[in-house]
Amino acid sequence: MNTLQSIGYPIYFENTLSELVNFVQQGNYSRFFVLTDENTGKHCLPLLQQHIGKLDNFDIIEINAGEESKNIDFCVGVWKMLIDFSADRQSLLINLGGGVISDLGGFAASTYKRGIDFVHVPTTLLSQVDASVGGKTGIDLDNIKNIIGTFTQPKAVFIEHAFLKTLPARQILSGLAEMLKHGLIADAGYWNKLKYSDLDNPSAELVHHSVAIKNKVVIEDPHEKGIRKSLNFGHTIGHSIETYSLMNDDNPLTHGEAIAAGMICEAKLSAMKIGLSEDELSEITAIIMGLYPKYDIAESCYKTLYNIMLKDKKNQSGKINCSLLTKIGQCRIDNICTEEELYQSISYYAAL
Ligand SMILES: NC(=O)c1ccc[n+]([C@@H]2O[C@H](COP(=O)([O-])OP(=O)(O)OC[C@H]3O[C@@H](n4cnc5c(N)ncnc54)[C@H](O)[C@@H]3O)[C@@H](O)[C@H]2O)c1
Ligand SMILES: [Zn+2]
Repeated sequence: MNTLQSIGYPIYFENTLSELVNFVQQGNYSRFFVLTDENTGKHCLPLLQQHIGKLDNFDIIEINAGEESKNIDFCVGVWKMLIDFSADRQSLLINLGGGVISDLGGFAASTYKRGIDFVHVPTTLLSQVDASVGGKTGIDLDNIKNIIGTFTQPKAVFIEHAFLKTLPARQILSGLAEMLKHGLIADAGYWNKLKYSDLDNPSAELVHHSVAIKNKVVIEDPHEKGIRKSLNFGHTIGHSIETYSLMNDDNPLTHGEAIAAGMICEAKLSAMKIGLSEDELSEITAIIMGLYPKYDIAESCYKTLYNIMLKDKKNQSGKINCSLLTKIGQCRIDNICTEEELYQSISYYAAL
């Protein structure tokens, strides 16, 4: 599997941890830091240390696992640790973890001393196929996801398939939603391939294929002025469901579970508004429902979901803007959706 070239940085898929050692040795860094959470500290750090253990002058910064850590308090914690360790501008931050670690670590690094270098070593399927590529960093504030952040590219990304071995099945499913999305928005052949693959354990080739799709889109449109918005398919309604679940459920939905529900709603919107065929809507619905548990959404919640959508970063002049499908493998951006249309699409999902 070939190394992909992104916006000024490589994405490695083979001999990744040896490549990381080479990268650190050649980088002339004064010292480096590994950011982990409690799970990646336990499951992933030992393998990383087998390689970087050869190097000296590194320290580990560990935070609590989960989205609850992706906020300014934990970011301040990381900044303070960097100060305590006397990190200078020649320091490197290695983000070893899922999307929470890459988003928070990327943000902390991009702002510390006006920016130090960072690399991602993504350890969840979701972060391998999505969060680690494209240069978005960020944190949540007051239950608004990713509302504070920067576009800052990592210096390299190292995608090591072995890390997925310890990932719980629910987290695999979470990342799978983004892979399905990649097929739906850009590559019908890939969608068909996914349909017939072992989706409990997506192969390294499938991961590579997904990253290649995402990478192509972000290279074309790094700052999300146009085509990159296609990656938001499923995310307008999906994010609102995710936020709602985070606020209300003891065991909240994962990002991918929420996006899976959002993709069904937005496929329905696609059929209502821009000509996705009923056959393809049924196919998308059946495949996703076959993989993900149904999330109950009562009619009394629709308004709350709508109010959350009104805060979406992608809105223009207060109007809700969705990326929708004209057919499987083809996405059209900038579709303004009315409150009524959004409710209709959520009822379609709720009635399944
Ligand atoms: N920047 C972007 O472009 C982008 C894109 C998509 C998602 N995101 C963000 O990513 C976040 C979600 O990412 P995520 O799903 O990876 O969440 P996460 O980082 O919280 O990881 C999920 C869970 O898996 C654990 N874990 C990680 N690697 C493991 C391993 N190898 N073995 C066992 N357990 C492991 C983590 O500790 C955590 O409990 C969200 O905050 C989302 O906003 C960002
Ligand atoms: Zn997503």
